[in-house]
Amino acid sequence: MLNQAIRLDRAEIAKYHNEGFLVIKDFMSVKTCEDLMQRAGELIEQFDVNIIKTIFTTKNHSKTRTQYFLDSADKIHFFFEEEALDEAGNLKFPKSRSINKFGHALHDLDPVFNEFTRSKKMASLIDGLGLKDPLILQSMYICKQPQIGGEVTCHQDGTFLFLQNEPVTGVWFALEDATLENGCLWAIPGGHQGKLKSRFLREENTTRMEIYDETPWDLTQMVPLEVKRGDAIVLHGFLPHMSKQNFSEKSRHAYTLHFMAGDNVYLPDNWMRRMVENPFTGF
Ligand code: FE2
Repeated sequence: MLNQAIRLDRAEIAKYHNEGFLVIKDFMSVKTCEDLMQRAGELIEQFDVNIIKTIFTTKNHSKTRTQYFLDSADKIHFFFEEEALDEAGNLKFPKSRSINKFGHALHDLDPVFNEFTRSKKMASLIDGLGLKDPLILQSMYICKQPQIGGEVTCHQDGTFLFLQNEPVTGVWFALEDATLENGCLWAIPGGHQGKLKSRFLREENTTRMEIYDETPWDLTQMVPLEVKRGDAIVLHGFLPHMSKQNFSEKSRHAYTLHFMAGDNVYLPDNWMRRMVENPFTGF
């Protein structure tokens, strides 16, 4: 299935340009979802839980945490749900139930995620969206754990990955059904036609948010994007979107990727930086 190219029709492209997002039904099979989830489980299992002690409980914990985050550009680093750790840095739940997400170079470093990311189908999807000679900027695996899966407040992905020309393109893959109960995505249709409200900038080894527009998002315009396991959602880089807390008993695993065209320019003051010897690559 992933060996076959996908062709978006005109209506789909038009819908994407009008609304800023596009749901693609059955992008991948249930088997692919299971394989990616199984691999994610193995990676979490291999992750040394003692790292939590060094990163999340040292005296300079905020500095250490920031560094761990910044260093994740070309590695696989793990981040916890806010409610997963007690004050001493001990896990309140099993490790597999505590990870919020991991990234941001899964697509380069892990063979299973690499194969999925660099499949023929993926390349044809990105080509169909008009991105020539695309580069893969980052990958993330998001767990949205049962009961404690944290809210992601309304944002534009362009805030975190800013490009000189066209905004970044994101694709979100549902590895499990995403519903109102377990914290599906929400978005403001057409909201991508507005401007970018903020940028998350890197300065040396720290970060800061630069605000251009303080007007709050009109959350009454949000619509839920409930999707089935195997569906994909393309997200325009300026589309306002969010997801609510997962209070349910079900997890909501998803994999995400961000792309840019080869002739676009990735600005050097973005938070995520690749080493010169390890640049972004394409398919
Ligand atoms: Fe996002």
